[in-house]
Amino acid sequence: MHLFLLVALLFNSIVLFGQSNVPQAILAENGLSLNFPAGFHKGVAISAFQNGGERYGLSNWGFFEETFIHANAKTMFGPAIKGGQKVGVAADFWNRAFDDIQLLKELGCNAFRFSVEWAEIEPEQGVFNEEVLAFYEQFCKELIRNDIIPMVTLHHFTHPQWFEDLGGWTNAENNLLFVNFAIRVFDRLSEYVPFWCTINEPTVVAACGYVLGIHPPGKCLDFKTSGTVLYNLLNAHVQTYHALKARKNGANVQIGIVHQMLQAEPFDPNYSSLYFVGKMRELMGMPLANFLNSSFAHDVTKEFLRSGSFEYHMPLVGVHISEYNANAVDSYDFVGLNFYSKVIFGPGPTCYNHQYMTDMDYPARSETIYDAIVEMSELGKPIYVTENGVADKADIRRAGFIVDYLAAVRRAVFDGYDVRGYYYWTFMDNFEWNDGYDMKFGLYYVDYKTQKRTLRNGALPFKYLFTVG
Ligand code: GCO
Repeated sequence: MHLFLLVALLFNSIVLFGQSNVPQAILAENGLSLNFPAGFHKGVAISAFQNGGERYGLSNWGFFEETFIHANAKTMFGPAIKGGQKVGVAADFWNRAFDDIQLLKELGCNAFRFSVEWAEIEPEQGVFNEEVLAFYEQFCKELIRNDIIPMVTLHHFTHPQWFEDLGGWTNAENNLLFVNFAIRVFDRLSEYVPFWCTINEPTVVAACGYVLGIHPPGKCLDFKTSGTVLYNLLNAHVQTYHALKARKNGANVQIGIVHQMLQAEPFDPNYSSLYFVGKMRELMGMPLANFLNSSFAHDVTKEFLRSGSFEYHMPLVGVHISEYNANAVDSYDFVGLNFYSKVIFGPGPTCYNHQYMTDMDYPARSETIYDAIVEMSELGKPIYVTENGVADKADIRRAGFIVDYLAAVRRAVFDGYDVRGYYYWTFMDNFEWNDGYDMKFGLYYVDYKTQKRTLRNGALPFKYLFTVG
């Protein structure tokens, strides 16, 4: 039975009868099993600013959305956030986080990845908000009470504007301000939080903030500062890892870094009916693909984590940064892999005939998550897929995307790669950074007027087919 037919059958049975009466046995007979070994994390991921907006502390993103009308690589000239949108209260995490735990249970999640908001915890340098720390402590306790493993991210793109005013990540001396914050949070929550992500996507912070200009501080084509920021961010991870490992509970928890493996390749002429046309696309797409790969520095980051050597070279713009930090080796207990797609660059189609574009500007290519897992396994550490998901406002792709990508992850697990969890991006619709609320990644649709959460049909394979044990 064709996979799509199977998923459609699953759909009808669930939509009509409100439950999956497509027994796992039928799925298994068709080689479609999304059952993972006992202990595997079935989770969803969110971030503080994207799901809760801002309350008391001004963050770099709050400042960015309020102040920036600027040129950038995406909108060329215009407000920081598409159409001048503002984050507001987003999906109202601060008031609904505890109620939403019930939705996590309905999805069958045994894990939940979320970030803590530095700007709310330390709204002024050295001044810590006890109410916010207590909120996070109670929330983590409630997750544990519901048999849901908390995975906390300490920095997910946002930090206090006072940190930015001090130069943010451009100044290596500022790293200790982050380490100090991390220690304060860790000492408060580590009794309830077994998994910690230090920094979410250093390469994206550096590339989008200083080369593409679509993230704060909105700088364009500043490759030298982008390289410096990346090095400082990676070192902030190293410093934080070793500082937290030395704390009470440090030996009892797992601490990792979250890397967005964002790669591009030129159009493959072999997919073109007219080979010479495809060859032209390939040759014209090569420089664009190389530019994106260099800007997002996947290889630079992987090598730093492997050996401590940081070799960031952009000869076309005369930027050469060579650094070394021996403490980087073994500075992580796991690798958090955020993976969505491998972008096809170049004139002409941005995906192949057998693939489809998501609402973001990249295609769904489930085979590439398997390749990413194989490559990141070279670091020799357990892997958690800490983000994977699809922007699909029409909800016509989501079910197939989930089945295809989970099947690829499961194939990697059963081929012997040490993948220990999969966190879907994202739990519910939220603020998609410079794209505002236009991108719908949520398993749950959110009506922002009423804050009503509605499970999308496309989420059903995650809820019913993705099983553990
Ligand atoms: C990222 C971030 C998330 C995004 C998600 C969808 O990878 O950019 O971790 O905050 O919202 O990836 O683009």
